[in-house]
Amino acid sequence: MSADIIDGKAFAGDLRARVAEKVAAFRAAADRAPGLAVVLVGEDPASQVYVRSKHKATIEAGMESFEHRLPDTTTQDELLAVVRRLNTDDSVDGILVQLPLPPQIDENVVIATIDPDKDVDGFHVVNAGRLAVGQHGYVPCTPLGCLMLLKDRLGDLSGLDAVVIGRSNIVGKPMAQLLLGESCTVTIAHSRTRDLPDVVKRADIVVAAVGRPEMIRGDWIKPGATVIDVGINRVPGAEPGKTKLVGDVDFAAASQVAGAITPVPGGVGPMTIAVLLRNTLVAAHRRAGVPYAKGSI
Ligand code: GUN
Repeated sequence: MSADIIDGKAFAGDLRARVAEKVAAFRAAADRAPGLAVVLVGEDPASQVYVRSKHKATIEAGMESFEHRLPDTTTQDELLAVVRRLNTDDSVDGILVQLPLPPQIDENVVIATIDPDKDVDGFHVVNAGRLAVGQHGYVPCTPLGCLMLLKDRLGDLSGLDAVVIGRSNIVGKPMAQLLLGESCTVTIAHSRTRDLPDVVKRADIVVAAVGRPEMIRGDWIKPGATVIDVGINRVPGAEPGKTKLVGDVDFAAASQVAGAITPVPGGVGPMTIAVLLRNTLVAAHRRAGVPYAKGSI
């Protein structure tokens, strides 16, 4: 059997187009554009690429993009002052502080300073708590994107066995909460899990977010399962000196067994920015008091 490929790139493109339509309607209703502020501290090359992509996507969706680039010598107090200013700036609906931060800055203190109602990354403990108890809040973009792909593929997820491999605050834990919210039977596996192949073999849904290239083997996958690969790992390519991107799942083998699988690249990756725009759109509606049709996107 050969799995269906879940085209995250196409899904994300469609989501971005739907966000852009709703942005146009919001602008007409509120007489302003939704605004996203992105703060980048330092020169980390990967972060610079992400921030540039976020800026471009924000503009393309018809939103305002506010970029704040600070030197890598920025002190924690200086960064907190920027965040506090953004908290009280009415033209800013969403605030994202790009991670990682330089070592002199405590990431937890910075995230705790962001107004939870502008925390479109969903990293603030208030939003983690809201997710845990099923209240309205902001959900981290990558796991919410994974859930959208799963629901598009499978429809109702209730009663399905799901395994999330990885327990990070950004992906693993919120992913497990979201699946629980959909009435899945959820297992969170991690580096200390005993007999991981056996745990994975029982799952109808596998979400891999461990950051280890091709760790999840094809013969661990239950036939027909839906596999979501969050990993983006750079490894040596076929030609000397060249590299390539691979996921946390052995795609070649798993795609012979799974019912559906996300590729790397072109699977989960493009969903993150699309969901960030969606979260910013929701934030703008809430802050401006413009009704937002629940579940519309
Ligand atoms: N660094 C890598 N991914 C992300 C993300 O989704 N949000 C933030 N704030 N930083 C990141």
